[in-house]
Amino acid sequence: MMATVEFDSIGKLYGTTRAISNVNFTIADGEFLVLVGPSGCGKSTLLRMVAGLEEISEGELRIGAERANEKQPRDRDIAMVFQSYALYPHMNTRENMAFGLKVRKMPQPEIDRRVDDAARMLEIEPLLERLPKDMSGGQRQRVAMGRAIVRQPQVFLFDEPLSNLDAALRTQMRGELKQLHARLGTTMIYVTHDQVEAMTLADRIAVLKLGVLQQVGTPAELFDAPANRFVAGFIGSPSMNFLDVTLDGGLKGPDFLLDLPAPAGTATIGVRPHDLRLAAQGVPGTIALIEPMGWEALVHVDSNSGRLVVRVESQDLAGLSSGAQVHLAPEPGTLHFFEAGPDGLALR
Ligand SMILES: Nc1ncnc2c1ncn2[C@@H]1O[C@H](COP(=O)(O)OP(=O)(O)OP(=O)(O)O)[C@@H](O)[C@H]1O
Ligand SMILES: [Mg+2]
Repeated sequence: MMATVEFDSIGKLYGTTRAISNVNFTIADGEFLVLVGPSGCGKSTLLRMVAGLEEISEGELRIGAERANEKQPRDRDIAMVFQSYALYPHMNTRENMAFGLKVRKMPQPEIDRRVDDAARMLEIEPLLERLPKDMSGGQRQRVAMGRAIVRQPQVFLFDEPLSNLDAALRTQMRGELKQLHARLGTTMIYVTHDQVEAMTLADRIAVLKLGVLQQVGTPAELFDAPANRFVAGFIGSPSMNFLDVTLDGGLKGPDFLLDLPAPAGTATIGVRPHDLRLAAQGVPGTIALIEPMGWEALVHVDSNSGRLVVRVESQDLAGLSSGAQVHLAPEPGTLHFFEAGPDGLALR
């Protein structure tokens, strides 16, 4: 079954407030697409439009190549999993998972087969007779996923399904979700504001800011070639460092950049913390803070151009502490250039 999802000039207005502007892109059949962006950027709005829970103000939404704008949620062949598990409190796991199928008048043997299959896949067979109140958050979220899986939909929609879980469980469930996708091969749209989740789960990531799509690409494309400064700062942890510089045939700014040929005007240079190193020559600065992370540390250095974060292997930290004078240099070929300003486009 074809289950592409196409956003064709999609816009959303709540009254006169614009939440989504002219979104255009296509999610391939079987793709794991992660929608990411800061709080309030419109992720849930876009997802709810796919689900049919929110009216589409502008453009056309196509699911499986068919116009879906006017389709009722129940006719869209989609299953959604929310942050709040929204399980029926008086139903046990089996009943919660079976409920949607019962409503659709599916024969009981088929319901039992699907529930048992999903329970096995999610390793919740021992919980089938339990009520939600007698389960942990992680177990409840598994049941909520089970309830979506038994539907065998054309598209799964996830809205921050892991954000109520503690860090360890979130990491574990993240891995399981990726395996689940590999196994089912169904199109999935997954909303998160966590760029690590986006990087680890996605076939492709779509970055939203204030309702405007910034870039769609593989995690590697967004990391290696961000389209603008916003994407560059959002993808990657710790964040890219930015330096404002004046380009004047060459570059006036931090010492290590002075020989670069460049167009005239102001611009922003971006350099990722792992692309910087402590060196004998380079941008001078003072260590403000060292954050040990085990085998490496994040060293925060105050330079004339602002704060720079550099990743340093712990073994190379000997003798360094806050207040020490150091120099920073980038690995060759690792600098990113952007037009000036917080939304500056990448200069290539
Ligand atoms: N029912 C509504 N009426 C008016 N404005 C709304 C409504 N729902 C959402 N908005 C606005 O639309 C914008 C996008 O909201 P949305 O919930 O899609 O953001 P989000 O990216 O999911 O954020 P979060 O990460 O916090 O969940 C926000 O400015 C929000 O205030
Ligand atoms: Mg949201």
